[in-house]
Amino acid sequence: MTHKLALIGFGTVGQSLVEILREKGEELRRKEGMEAEVVAVSDLLKGSLYHPEGLNIDRLLQAAGEGDLNRYPEVPGLVRGWDSRRTIRECNADTVVEVSYTDVRTGQPAIDHCRTAFETGKNVVMTNKGPVALAYRELSELARRHRVGWNFEGTVMSGTPALHMARTSLAGNEISEIRGIFNGTTNYILTQMEEGWTFDEALAEAQSRGIAEADPTSDIEGYDVLYKVMILAQVVMETPLDRKEVVREGIRGITAEDIRQAREEGKCWKLLGRIRREGDGVTASVQPLRLSLTDPLAGVGGTMNAITYDCDLAGPITLVGAGAGRKETGFALLADLIQRVQERP
Ligand code: HSE
Repeated sequence: MTHKLALIGFGTVGQSLVEILREKGEELRRKEGMEAEVVAVSDLLKGSLYHPEGLNIDRLLQAAGEGDLNRYPEVPGLVRGWDSRRTIRECNADTVVEVSYTDVRTGQPAIDHCRTAFETGKNVVMTNKGPVALAYRELSELARRHRVGWNFEGTVMSGTPALHMARTSLAGNEISEIRGIFNGTTNYILTQMEEGWTFDEALAEAQSRGIAEADPTSDIEGYDVLYKVMILAQVVMETPLDRKEVVREGIRGITAEDIRQAREEGKCWKLLGRIRREGDGVTASVQPLRLSLTDPLAGVGGTMNAITYDCDLAGPITLVGAGAGRKETGFALLADLIQRVQERP
């Protein structure tokens, strides 16, 4: 049976998922048993479309590329102009792809979108961090009660399966510590400073590559990593954290001299997110730290991200991969969707 999707938000990431579905449709059908169609799209800036029998992907991407979904041709049964909540509530989608423009500090409107989806019996796959960092308990309980699924792999390290690995391959281990490089912008800046670039040159390049957040303060001051740390604490360590409980320091204070000195001592600076189990609770921090060059995280340069899980049975396990990017984040949504289709829910 075809799995019907409603995309809430249709920016870079949502469009990337739809492009992947177009390019890999046949392969996904054959290898994963997944046949998906887009029935609804609702975007604050571009407008909205709903057709219960599915939208034409080529025409949809063309209209989105022109920045106006009203350019999608008129066809019988097409509904235009529903807002995101009405789209979620009234469309016939099995899964809502939640990629709306959301303020990570409040998690809205993504939190409300999840509530509406679960209450109307729809799964959610998403990349917005706010709902997981701030409302995990409420939303996971709501999803469970309505017997629907909720996946959010792309919230940490984009398409690199940091969450999935912890929850599947590492099951049975007690994880005593998680540490990692969870922000590509700051890792890129620190790497380029090692090569003699100034902070501002490296930041400008990270922005032009589209890695940095719209407001790079969130990257530089460690807020982006803070939310990822909260997600990991909650999802992997089963411990909710308030943002005030996480020590947070960004990389603004790191100078060329600091970098040179560290290098002389066989070390390098990395912005690390850390969560450590302490008794019944955890302690968590986001801080620039000097790592010995023998640490697996020290070799992770440029825009790459990495995570190390300290496991009681498997020992330390490090996963390295992209933490951002159009295709990579589109893939994170695809991986979530494949899981949804195969698990139901
Ligand atoms: N701005 C983030 C980064 C990407 O630089 O890694 C997604 O959180």
